[in-house]
Amino acid sequence: MDSFIPWIGGKKLLRKEIVNRFPENYTKYKYVEVFGGAAWVLFYKQESVLEIYNDINGELVNLFRCVKYHAEAVEKELEFVLNSREIFNEFKNQNTKYMTDIQRAARYLYLIKASYGAKVTTFGIKCRDISNMDAVYKIKDRLSKVAVENKSFTDIIKQYNKEDVLLYLDPPYHNTEKFYDTSDFIFNEDTHTQLSNMLKEFKGKFLLSYNDDTYIRELYKDFNIEEVSRSNNLSITNGRKNLFRELIIRNY
Ligand SMILES: C[S@@+](CC[C@H](N)C(=O)[O-])C[C@H]1O[C@@H](n2cnc3c(N)ncnc32)[C@H](O)[C@@H]1O
Repeated sequence: MDSFIPWIGGKKLLRKEIVNRFPENYTKYKYVEVFGGAAWVLFYKQESVLEIYNDINGELVNLFRCVKYHAEAVEKELEFVLNSREIFNEFKNQNTKYMTDIQRAARYLYLIKASYGAKVTTFGIKCRDISNMDAVYKIKDRLSKVAVENKSFTDIIKQYNKEDVLLYLDPPYHNTEKFYDTSDFIFNEDTHTQLSNMLKEFKGKFLLSYNDDTYIRELYKDFNIEEVSRSNNLSITNGRKNLFRELIIRNY
């Protein structure tokens, strides 16, 4: 199943490679997606005995929760809203303090769908049916069995540090950290190191995706590292998409 939203760094193109490398019988493990984003991997894989979606971005998590519990109400909020730069800028500049969770979810869904590259910052000129909720309704059913958390990776990894857990981790890539709204949490080299130290102590199984980078290779040199390539939509030479190299790192 596809996700209902695009997302910066979303794993739409890599999800098959990732799920193919999950352990045999992976559905028997409790599954925790630590850096959830649009959850392209979670929605693609088979259902597991227990599933946790987590992200530090509170607006994104509120959207996931409202899709899960109040999809009809979110749809109603966007019923007659048009795809336009003016409306995009109005939504973007709104003060969300006195909005209901449903209004905030509808606003954020609009900003993701109407922005350039799902960055939520600038309007992207494209014909789209902004109020089409078909994808939202499909995801609503899938989410009914998924617990949605809004924690930092440190807390969620500590909570699920158990042998019967499979973690999938897709952190902000090294040197692209600034693209994500992580509230007061600063993702930097110390944080990448902190994550690798926590994973060295992790009792269950983990699969991690990263950009191919010497710093990251050094951090995870004791683990199983594989290089995978995918075409890069944003980098084109002589009409052909360039390849972007990523790493899949596992402790099994
Ligand atoms: C590369 S994206 C994940 C994309 C996702 N795999 C997908 O397919 O859409 C990284 C995500 O990590 C989240 N994030 C950043 N810092 C975090 C932290 N400290 N704890 C938990 N999530 C964090 C960001 O909000 C962002 O959604």
